[in-house]
Amino acid sequence: MNEKLTSIKQEILDGIENQATSRATAFELRKQFLDSKTGKIGQLMKEMKNIPNEEKAEFGKQVNELKNWATEVFEDLDAKMKAKELKERYEKEKIDVTIDAECEPKGNLHPITQMRNQLIDVFAGMGFTIYEGTEIENDYYNFTALNTPQDHPARDMQDTFYLSPEFLLRTQTSSGQIHVMENTKPPIKILSPGKVFRSDDDATHSPMFTQMEGLVVDKKITLCDLKGMLDVFVKKIYGEETTTRLRPSYFPFTEPSVEVDVSCFECGGKGCKLCKGTGWIEILGAGIVNKKVLENCGIDSDEYSGLAFGIGIERTAMLKYGINNIKLLFESDLNVLKQIDDN
Ligand code: PHE
Repeated sequence: MNEKLTSIKQEILDGIENQATSRATAFELRKQFLDSKTGKIGQLMKEMKNIPNEEKAEFGKQVNELKNWATEVFEDLDAKMKAKELKERYEKEKIDVTIDAECEPKGNLHPITQMRNQLIDVFAGMGFTIYEGTEIENDYYNFTALNTPQDHPARDMQDTFYLSPEFLLRTQTSSGQIHVMENTKPPIKILSPGKVFRSDDDATHSPMFTQMEGLVVDKKITLCDLKGMLDVFVKKIYGEETTTRLRPSYFPFTEPSVEVDVSCFECGGKGCKLCKGTGWIEILGAGIVNKKVLENCGIDSDEYSGLAFGIGIERTAMLKYGINNIKLLFESDLNVLKQIDDN
């Protein structure tokens, strides 16, 4: 074989041994020999003119054989490099799906917000819409319009924070009833959640707490409507077996007024520590809207009647989650708050 051919073959083998470490370098190497214009094997054909005539055919054949051999060698090399690179990539990008995920600590809503949302869900399902009043009220909306004039003894039921002789921190979300009735023609069906304030402080009372007022005004609204709605509410919040009972009570803005008890969801009514052996737990105040209140808002009390209820959100949450001190809800102790994740 022509010496040149032998040395090219060796060059290729050396190149593969020493230079071809990747698909890219193997391709570069291939180009040096097999590029159609500049490749060393192609260039050999230019030597043809120096070859004696009788050896030309043999030389041409050998160049061709070398070309075929080199083509095959480089094809093999490319396949090998491709496989090697794929393997390396798989190694590098390998994922261990059995490793535990890094968990971000998950937050939860404050229990009062959770309870507020649950209550809104229940009553929204019955067609109530939300009205949010203001925390600062004047005396008229918080008391007078609610049939509690200046010297009315019922004012003593709620120790009030006065900001001035006229303005105060609302003691009840009932003030929202007046705003809504003044501005809306019946039928009315609103739910009014929000903070209220009273100078009161012990294990079950806090100077700031949250109420949710319900008000329905329409033709022929009765205590039956009230009981029906409250039954839906207590079943959704405290369980399907829970029932309600109404006891006579007094609020200046409702007549008749009732205190609503739920059957004890802890003992099912047999009597336990939670219900103090009675089988019943008091949960809220309610009643039929006093005709005087409707008239104060310009609603004809012969044509329309209404029902109203006021739910204490902290109390509802404390009962549901077994919290025995209202302060736990306001101390922002995450160890306590994160135990209640009910939404
Ligand atoms: N506003 C009353 C309270 O805070 C609760 C209530 C609301 C009673 C609506 C009757 C009707 O004690």
